[in-house]
Amino acid sequence: METSAPTKDFHPTSALIDRFGRRVSYLRLSVTDRCDLRCSYCMPKGFSGFEEPENWLRFDEIERVVAAFARMGVSRLRMTGGEPLLRRHLPQLVTQLSALPGLHDISLSTNATQLHKHAEVLHTAGVSRINVSLDSLDKACMERITGRDSYASIIAGLQAGKQAGFAPIKVNMVLMRGVNDHEVMRMAQYCFDEGFILRLIEAMPMGDTGRNSQYMDVGPLRDQLVREFNLVPAAAELGGGPARYWSTQDGKGTVGFISPISQHFCATCNRVRLSVDGTLYMCLGQDEKFELRPLLRAGVNDLELESAIRTAIELKPERHEFKENRHKIIRFMSQTGG
Ligand code: 5AD
Ligand code: SF4
Repeated sequence: METSAPTKDFHPTSALIDRFGRRVSYLRLSVTDRCDLRCSYCMPKGFSGFEEPENWLRFDEIERVVAAFARMGVSRLRMTGGEPLLRRHLPQLVTQLSALPGLHDISLSTNATQLHKHAEVLHTAGVSRINVSLDSLDKACMERITGRDSYASIIAGLQAGKQAGFAPIKVNMVLMRGVNDHEVMRMAQYCFDEGFILRLIEAMPMGDTGRNSQYMDVGPLRDQLVREFNLVPAAAELGGGPARYWSTQDGKGTVGFISPISQHFCATCNRVRLSVDGTLYMCLGQDEKFELRPLLRAGVNDLELESAIRTAIELKPERHEFKENRHKIIRFMSQTGG
């Protein structure tokens, strides 16, 4: 029997290891900095510093960068924003990226307001998993948090996602004291019933929240959930990220806890972020970055591109300083992707 020829030439090179021995295996790709919502913890009120379209990486440029990362051992990619579904022809990009050798997992973080229109085609194109932001099950509360009447469209989006076959679907709930903390039990029950994995996230100081009294430590809420639902630590690693997971006794319900502030997980950080304008950000909470767009537009070859990415990885800082430096806001989440 003949062996099938590889679809494209693939020449893996050595892995991306930073100065602290951490291997970068995960790329978060922001495909737009625009969003149809205005979540208080993400974008400041009246924000207008959006990138000009001519500075957005084109799909062919994104494909080149992602291919270079894949040759250097990045096997997982998540598309973020802003709101990624606002980037036109996104399924086309997914199709291009799914064809890249070495990349094994493409996921999407979305606010789901438009998901009912795109779920099926994105799943077919190669997105296997989605994370959806849903901070409350109360319509008025969602309107306060997101700045828009978003609740019904998000729930419709979640249902469409389920229908399309994304698995798992994770629901991200950013904790805000006095805003949505009283809803955690109800949200857990909702997610268990729907088969979604709930993730409770400590707000990082990047928008109107986090810097102020709305921040809350996820620990006490975890203890409460563990008691209420008889949770046990989950055996399986789910997703290779910073969340710590707990499950119900029958294993059907799962909750993850993400505590960037109270217990930072920088020592095992495996990721970098590429923003829509082609800037590689080494850490959510620090300044270190490297601009790839000028190199791409100057026509560098693949080796030069790889070497630039290796130089960038050398800049990756040891950790964020959200706790020590609560008032230092480097960028808003919508600019780098969460
Ligand atoms: N702190 C914590 N999480 C945030 N997200 C966005 N902004 C913040 C913040 N300041 C999360 C949201 C969203 C994901 C993309 O990033 O949960 O679902
Ligand atoms: Fe938009 Fe997501 Fe930021 Fe909310 S968190 S404003 S949905 S990008």
